[in-house]
Amino acid sequence: MNNFTKITFALVAFLSIVSCGDKRSRSVQYMPDMYVSVPYEPNGETGINGEPSNLKPVEGSVARGQVPYDYPNTNDGYDAALKNLKSPLEKNDENLAKGKVMYGIYCATCHGTKGDGNGVLAQREKFNGVPNYKDRAITEGSTYHVIMYGRNLMGSHSSQLTIAERWQIVHYVDKLRNDLLK
Ligand code: HEC
Repeated sequence: MNNFTKITFALVAFLSIVSCGDKRSRSVQYMPDMYVSVPYEPNGETGINGEPSNLKPVEGSVARGQVPYDYPNTNDGYDAALKNLKSPLEKNDENLAKGKVMYGIYCATCHGTKGDGNGVLAQREKFNGVPNYKDRAITEGSTYHVIMYGRNLMGSHSSQLTIAERWQIVHYVDKLRNDLLK
């Protein structure tokens, strides 16, 4: 008997033992991990370290297309933005011109085209307490902060404006205020 025949005999014998068992119970599993995987529940108790693993994003992660804004909507956040937050955009005519257009759409109705608080809604007394920019000690940082969160009666405008548009408006508000102070 050569080796090939021996191996064939052995295989046939092995398979007949394996396959002729009780048909209703499982036969031998070769590499059981391939049949019965070891899952872990992403939302359950068996995630990494027993914590649900995919409920919270990793700390410090930022959603695509979002830029974090580190100044909280508090008085301290306002003060910090007033002092430290500076425009990342170049102060040029193009940004100012775009800011003027956006200001006309989103701000002038209350604040007036000159920023003196004399917008249509203020004139018709639909909206009260709109300040003249020259009467407020605002900076580019605080103006951006107010566009982000609003302030008292004024609502947030962050959902209508991209980051660049907000800063362009800030440049324009700065210009209006300087003109009013002349
Ligand atoms: C619906 C009316 C309304 C609109 C629209 C509006 N504002 Fe105001 N804004 C107000 C009112 C009212 C206040 C006064 C809030 C307060 O009590 O300090 C104010 C205050 C401000 C202040 C001064 C806040 C401070 O720090 O003292 C700035 C700057 C300002 N607005 C900028 C803007 C800009 C920029 C826009 C457009 C993106 C805008 N506002 C749109 C009503 C409005």
